[in-house]
Amino acid sequence: MKKIIDVEVRTKAAEPASCKADMLCMGVFKGEEKLDKTCGILNKKLDGRIEKLLKLGDFKGEEGSCEVIYTDGRIAAERLMLAGLGEKKKATADTLRKACAAAANKAVSMNIKKLALAIHKAFDGKVNAETAGEVCAEGAYFGSYRYDEYITKDENGRSESLSVEIIEPEQRKFQKINKGCGVGAVIGEAQSYARTLSNRPGNVINPPALAAEAKKMAGKYANLNCTILDAKQLKQKKMGGILAVGAGSKSEPRFIILKYKGAKTKNAPTIALVGKAITFDSGGISIKPSANMGAMKLDKSGGIAVLATMKAIAQLRPEVNVYGLIPSAENLPSGTSYRPGDIVTTYSTKTVEIDNTDAEGRMILCDALHYAGELGCETIIDIATLTGSCMVALGKYKAGLFGNDEKLVKQVQAAAEESGEKVWHLPSGEEYAKEMKSKIADLKNVGSKWGGACTAAAFLGEFIDKAKWAHLDIAGMDIFEKGTAYSAEGSSGYGVRLLTTFLMNHAK
Ligand code: BES
Ligand code: MN
Ligand code: ZN
Repeated sequence: MKKIIDVEVRTKAAEPASCKADMLCMGVFKGEEKLDKTCGILNKKLDGRIEKLLKLGDFKGEEGSCEVIYTDGRIAAERLMLAGLGEKKKATADTLRKACAAAANKAVSMNIKKLALAIHKAFDGKVNAETAGEVCAEGAYFGSYRYDEYITKDENGRSESLSVEIIEPEQRKFQKINKGCGVGAVIGEAQSYARTLSNRPGNVINPPALAAEAKKMAGKYANLNCTILDAKQLKQKKMGGILAVGAGSKSEPRFIILKYKGAKTKNAPTIALVGKAITFDSGGISIKPSANMGAMKLDKSGGIAVLATMKAIAQLRPEVNVYGLIPSAENLPSGTSYRPGDIVTTYSTKTVEIDNTDAEGRMILCDALHYAGELGCETIIDIATLTGSCMVALGKYKAGLFGNDEKLVKQVQAAAEESGEKVWHLPSGEEYAKEMKSKIADLKNVGSKWGGACTAAAFLGEFIDKAKWAHLDIAGMDIFEKGTAYSAEGSSGYGVRLLTTFLMNHAK
């Protein structure tokens, strides 16, 4: 099996013009009359070639666009790439992150091994140096990512590694950029780890395999602890939801319990992250149509976002205590599957009538949420590719955010803004919860035809007791169907940046 591209991001104290690299990358805003100072210097050395491109209109600074100039020894880098940044007044830290991703994406496509990034120079005074370092590193990982470990030909056109240097000549800024870069590299690497696990298909990652991977990952960090509940233990504990969903597959379900201890005081509050990890969702007896069913290997990406976030915080060491709870099952039809009409007794002892075996995510999450409550977690955030309805409502640009606590919702929104992993607050509550009542059990697992994301959230809410709770429905966010300027196709690793940012902020 081929190794995923090896990316390394560092900070380097140097002037862009004298920086040796296969490609140096600068940022240019759309419609700016004058080049900024750094681009001005490069333009002079390059006999006005940057200005010429702009004047001829071959490059307009449009967001996501880029243009390569061959430098013929006039500066130390072989090539200069201009990355379009869009309108200056709309620019944020995420604009910088995306531009770095576009540059890294292009670099890998061009088989470049050494990339120098100085795009942040265009953001002087707009984005502080530490943030700039972080988002540049995250972007570099994000854009360079390729999922090709099962392509056996090695001539599929990419180099084995990419070395990225963020170039900053000013000593004072260098320190801050370097600090941010360290954080961004950890988060970026964790996100790539998530993407690889998510992209692996159902015949490679099943619940026991995911549990083994969690154990292996946790074993590398002294501040992480990992316990796995296997099918026998799930039965002893009466985790009926997870067991019901896993009943149809030869690969038995697992419950992965990760613990990170970062708080210094004794009674510090504990946060639970709960992630849905259905390693393949066929729908079960209520089987899905076959078109695009293969994409349901990504139905584990909520759980994997939690796993990768635990990896990131083990390295970043925020002063909080965190549980990462990942219920995992494979939803298949067989002679042992759970069926429509079944009544399942969940871990909370609440009973659920099954209307549709394809509404399985909530059936594994409800056990994990109840477990989080038992652990005494004050704050619970769950993340799940839960409903097609959420995708219908919000498209592929924002995840649905639900919650029972205004302050927590605001905190998640703030983390979304910072991390560039966007959310949109949607309603849940009593009216929706009412739809989930059954005539023959406490609850049923499907509501009416309308508002499926909201009724699913309301169902989960029934398993929250005292905790402040937020729910992220990331269906649609977990996949790029086609490559974009910022990313190759496949899993997006959505949630790793958002959750890690949330925890880092929480610790402050
Ligand atoms: N994993 C799916 C949701 C999903 C759909 C994720 C499309 C990503 C893309 C989930 O388990 C599911 O099947 N939900 C059903 C619920 C319904 C039966 C109430 C859905 O959304 O159709
Ligand atoms: Mn389903
Ligand atoms: Zn599912």
